[in-house]
Amino acid sequence: MVRRVTTPQRSDERFRLAIEAAPTGMMLVDREGRIALVNTEVEKLFGYPRAELMGMSVDMLVPERFRASHPTTRTNFFESPAARPMGAGRDLFGLRKDGTEMPIEIGLNPLETPEGWFVLSSIVDITERQRAAEHMARSLREKETLLREIHHQVKNNLQVISSLLRLQSSRVEDPRWAALLEESQARVDAIALVHERLYLADDVARVDFSSYLEELARNLSSAFADARVVIVVHAGGAELPVDCAISCGLVVNELLTNALKHAFTDGRSGRVAVRASRQAEAVEIEVEDDGVGIEDNPTGDGMGLTLIKALARQLGGAFSLGRSSVCGTIGRLSFAVPS
Ligand SMILES: Nc1ncnc2c1ncn2[C@@H]1O[C@H](COP(=O)(O)OP(=O)(O)OP(=O)(O)O)[C@@H](O)[C@H]1O
Ligand SMILES: [Mg+2]
Repeated sequence: MVRRVTTPQRSDERFRLAIEAAPTGMMLVDREGRIALVNTEVEKLFGYPRAELMGMSVDMLVPERFRASHPTTRTNFFESPAARPMGAGRDLFGLRKDGTEMPIEIGLNPLETPEGWFVLSSIVDITERQRAAEHMARSLREKETLLREIHHQVKNNLQVISSLLRLQSSRVEDPRWAALLEESQARVDAIALVHERLYLADDVARVDFSSYLEELARNLSSAFADARVVIVVHAGGAELPVDCAISCGLVVNELLTNALKHAFTDGRSGRVAVRASRQAEAVEIEVEDDGVGIEDNPTGDGMGLTLIKALARQLGGAFSLGRSSVCGTIGRLSFAVPS
């Protein structure tokens, strides 16, 4: 928008007062780059007294390394005068009288007067703003480093617990007890994996659930070492916050373990599909096998189903388990996460 200042004297005085009262540096510059008017803020910003600034070339306020191109920039501006920020996307600097520089933000407004075209610039020293932004970015980086370190530490501690369980299971003679300890170890491993993924990831607060599930499936598959059963994971790009990821990881761990343990008992070969999807806030996780199929009235829940139901309640979600369309078993967990 181009402003016109036409009425003489009184409006001239008002204009001067308005400029003086502005909270930012205000400077009027003619087509040749001569300073025609400044307010006290500009004097303070650049360290020149007003008398020295009046008539001075505005180029003197531009650091030497940018000075040569400044007249061309000015000419271009007057060729298509329009209100806009100066140097959008570039860092701008102002040169003070004492030779020091400051980062500045400049707004340009063309002004047509009876004496010809001028540009009215508003100038803000953004040193403090930049310092605050840098401080914020540094704090954020430190917080991320700290979180990463904590995830690393938690993962290491869980691995120690996992190793202790493995050691203990190897010393137990009754295979049923050994199996219980191994299952406990797998649960600890499933949690440790969330922390491992988090300290390795760019985002320390959200887990890439697809790669998590792939690794979980790989680990369980090698633990069961049953080449007859293939595990396939479909998880798109589902991402989950840490606490949900741990609960979901444990649920998938139980469902997958059950499929590997109970679905292919008659020597058959088969397939287990693990699916996870997230549509805005709605998360759905399924584990489906084409094995023998769950009994219609199982005698009761073991540790697995008890744990799954408790976790589903904790997530505020719903869990169902039943016969799947491929004649095996399908377990489905659905819940909502805040986006
Ligand atoms: N995918 C499946 N295929 C066939 N039967 C299943 C399947 N999943 C669960 N079941 C049946 O449901 C029962 C309960 O499962 P749950 O996980 O609660 O206990 P578990 O696996 O027997 O023992 P635990 O989980 O404590 O090691 C199982 O014993 C099994 O009979
Ligand atoms: Mg189980």
